[in-house]
Amino acid sequence: MEEKRYLTFALGKGRLAKKTLQLFEKIGITCEEINDPATRKLIFVNEELKLKFFLAKGPDVPTYVEYGAADIGVVGKDTILEEGRNIYEVLDLGFGKCRMCICGPESARELLQHHEQIRVATKYPHIAKDYFYNKKHQTVELIKLNGSIELAPIVGLSEVICDIVETGTTLKENGLTVLEEVCPLSARVVVNQVSMKMENERITKLITDLKRVIESER
Ligand code: PRP
Repeated sequence: MEEKRYLTFALGKGRLAKKTLQLFEKIGITCEEINDPATRKLIFVNEELKLKFFLAKGPDVPTYVEYGAADIGVVGKDTILEEGRNIYEVLDLGFGKCRMCICGPESARELLQHHEQIRVATKYPHIAKDYFYNKKHQTVELIKLNGSIELAPIVGLSEVICDIVETGTTLKENGLTVLEEVCPLSARVVVNQVSMKMENERITKLITDLKRVIESER
């Protein structure tokens, strides 16, 4: 029989990867080494199951998957939308739940309602552009930032922000509020388009197994 090739997984670093690995364990996919906090290794192998895993920066996961350097990726819906790569999104893992929102001080609400030409600071310019231009038909000035987005309206860089809200604590502690909701977010499984055809049986089984666990825990 022909030797199975490795299936490679790209996982977004951090909390998401940890939860993903816990979920994978429940369907019998384990990778001891990756859980070692001291390791500086970048790629981990499960020889028995012919699987490889690597951790990458979230926004790079769709890139690895589109080019086929990884067959499968796990990444937030925010990143999938922002990166706009040619990949298949096949499963909602149901964790990492949060919302993409337009936020600001209460006083900015009427600027949004009146479609004023406001400034929007965000780490997600594509998502913000799609929301304001295609959904709301409102012309805005987008300002790309790389983190601590809540600062922007506080220091007068922008009127509002387009950012992730999880518990709402960051907003609350900074006198800001959700003004509009763009979309719900959570962790998703993405698959390379060629791998989906070439390794259909293995990938379909993986998705089915994951679905079963997710549904049993609901
Ligand atoms: C995210 C997001 C908000 C915060 C929301 O930032 O950009 O700032 O978490 O969480 P909360 O609603 O539970 O307060 P993250 O911590 O990822 O860092 P960043 O500011 O560098 O983007």
